[in-house]
Amino acid sequence: MERLQKVIAQSGFCSRRKAEEYIQAGKVKVEGKVITELGTKVDEKARIEVENHLLTREEKEYYLINKPRGVITSTSDDKNRKIVTDLIPTEARIYPVGRLDYDTTGALLLTNDGEFANIMTHPKNKVEKVYLAKLEGIIKGEQIQTLKKGIVLDGSKIVPSRVKLKKVNTENNTCMVEITIHEGKNHEVKRIFETVGYRVSKLTRERIGIFTVEHLKSGEYRKLTPKEVAIVYSYPKEEKKLIENVGSDTKPVWIAK
Ligand code: URA
Repeated sequence: MERLQKVIAQSGFCSRRKAEEYIQAGKVKVEGKVITELGTKVDEKARIEVENHLLTREEKEYYLINKPRGVITSTSDDKNRKIVTDLIPTEARIYPVGRLDYDTTGALLLTNDGEFANIMTHPKNKVEKVYLAKLEGIIKGEQIQTLKKGIVLDGSKIVPSRVKLKKVNTENNTCMVEITIHEGKNHEVKRIFETVGYRVSKLTRERIGIFTVEHLKSGEYRKLTPKEVAIVYSYPKEEKKLIENVGSDTKPVWIAK
């Protein structure tokens, strides 16, 4: 027997948090009966319907893609723009874990495993995200210190664990700054730099948790290894220890069209 929200998430239908919302809104039936209590234990083989969709169990799939610019982090788009799931040919109902802006490039995970997505995005796990930002203007030492001390976004304090000036281009009046954060707020990095007066003109996510796109060209993707998936399931305690050992030890196997 497992908790209902976990079984829904594991089916790949949605994340565990979303499943909790469905349950509380009375949109989940188990063997034909509406269940609204979170944490109700159910048989993993029970007949479960969410908003009248019967859950089916499909094989879990996990991908890491180096997201190109000009692609929406979504499974559909009403304006017919290119979506990231178009880049990975699979029958599984995979979806992005968190999001990157249309013009942001870099490491993005996709899966049909809601539990995996929940672990990667849950604030308590503090999964590290490393971004490289190109700024219009050259950031000053004291502004980097201001960011390191922490700034407030949407009423909560953000303390980047690392802010490092990587490159300065005095001719173009731009610079490259690497920043490591743990949250996943909308346009978080762009808004962080705005607080000290800089516009981000280019942004790439170099790493999320243990996953880097070092060996992936723009648009390339690969499946995660069972070992990598197991590490995520062991979060948060094992992440730090294993990060150096695993890195991205697997080369891309497919090239997205
Ligand atoms: N922060 C941003 O501003 N944009 C992204 O795409 C990701 C993090």
